[in-house]
Amino acid sequence: MKFGIFAAALLAAPLGFGATAHAEDTLVPLHWQSQGTFGSYDQAALQRGFLVYQTVCASCHSASAVHYRDLTALGLTTEQVADLIANIKQDNQPVTLNSRLIGALPKAQAAATFGGAIPPDLSNMVAARPKGVAYVYHLLTGYQPAPADVTLMAKHYYNAAYPGNQIAMPAPLTDNAVTYADGTKATTAQEASDVAAFLSWVSDPNLDARRQIGLRAVIFLIFLTLLAIATKRKIWRDVG
Ligand code: HEC
Repeated sequence: MKFGIFAAALLAAPLGFGATAHAEDTLVPLHWQSQGTFGSYDQAALQRGFLVYQTVCASCHSASAVHYRDLTALGLTTEQVADLIANIKQDNQPVTLNSRLIGALPKAQAAATFGGAIPPDLSNMVAARPKGVAYVYHLLTGYQPAPADVTLMAKHYYNAAYPGNQIAMPAPLTDNAVTYADGTKATTAQEASDVAAFLSWVSDPNLDARRQIGLRAVIFLIFLTLLAIATKRKIWRDVG
């Protein structure tokens, strides 16, 4: 009987952990719900992040690993996704659920506009940069006036987070660049946090499934260990 309670407590421990990870959704200290061992994506943040990506970033950047139909993974129904994308056009054609997230700016035009710099595809950006999700957030909120001893290159902007501090991307976000359907206040920091969360999902869409499987496997192994201990005790009980 004692053993049963012990086993139940052990099994409940990791589940409890998962629950607290879900409750955390705050920027202070800087943290995304998907971080940590049991973290999972915050679907509301991902939906807001998609809105920021589509409204602001997509005019220059693609995220071509993703199709619009994949957005059902953000907790939207196919009809809701269809509604969301109803007014989006690529090459003057309306996009379909099977279209990829392609930026609106042709490469040649981008190179001419940004002094040769081309907006990179954002599909793997969070995975490709160290501390990717925080990096994207800091990059988007890191625009500052250049210090007096820095001479900016032509068509470049000072950014505290960008390696070398001079980036060809103009500050893309402003307060109220989007209007969130869930009533969240659209500050620059909030938009940056949400689009960073969205881009981490784009880089690693299977994180939730992987962690769920991992958690179940750990629970199963704990159970198996306890069963092995119990069996061993029973078998050897009368051996003196
Ligand atoms: C007006 C066009 C434009 C918009 C809008 C824009 N970007 Fe960029 N972005 C660029 C360009 C150009 C570069 C390449 C900068 C360079 O090489 O100096 C870039 C680079 C980046 C990088 C790569 C930084 C690195 O470490 O290499 C990230 C990440 C990024 N943008 C994210 C975003 C996000 C997120 C948004 C939307 C909130 C966005 N951008 C909106 C033009 C844009």
